[in-house]
Amino acid sequence: MTEITLVQGDITRQSADAIVNAANSSLLGGGGVDGAIHRRGGPAILADCRRLRAGHYGKGLPTGRAVATTAGDLDARWVIHTVGPRHSRDEDRSELLASCYRASLRVADELGARTVAFPAVSAGIYGWPLDDAARIAVETVRATQTSVEEVRFVLFDERAYEAFAARTG
Ligand code: AR6
Repeated sequence: MTEITLVQGDITRQSADAIVNAANSSLLGGGGVDGAIHRRGGPAILADCRRLRAGHYGKGLPTGRAVATTAGDLDARWVIHTVGPRHSRDEDRSELLASCYRASLRVADELGARTVAFPAVSAGIYGWPLDDAARIAVETVRATQTSVEEVRFVLFDERAYEAFAARTG
């Protein structure tokens, strides 16, 4: 049984087996949580990302998929990078957002990670409404078979924390 926990704060300060990054398909960094992870984790993460781009992921990591690298200087063993969908009013991309959580947990299982910290994927620069992002995140984790013992959602501000609390309480 996977326990879901909530923390308000900066995911780069968390101690966990794996920390999930809300990346973009280039895997080469960006703003938001992605920028924070690369800043605090140091150059080893980007070096691993470049190796992925030079190998299997020459065209980048597709939306909804996940891949692991070292966590560099972070207090974690791995960073699991996933690419959330941009929110669209014309098209329902919920399945792609759910896929980010499923794929990340699958990678975590392959690594043997027992504790995994997630940010609210797509709920920042990619514009996903917070309440819906929280619903999809919590419903998907609850519905996924995994050996991960703790899924910790790390929410940057109070509004995000309250949105997730409303789904888990
Ligand atoms: N710890 C925890 N949560 C954070 C942190 C942090 N340090 N920083 C931001 N958040 P975003 P996205 C929250 O924009 O929407 C990047 O440029 C933030 O408040 O980081 O998936 C990538 O390279 C929000 O609730 O990711 C992509 O191009 C949540 O994390 C693009 O942004 C996600 O916001 C991905 O956009």
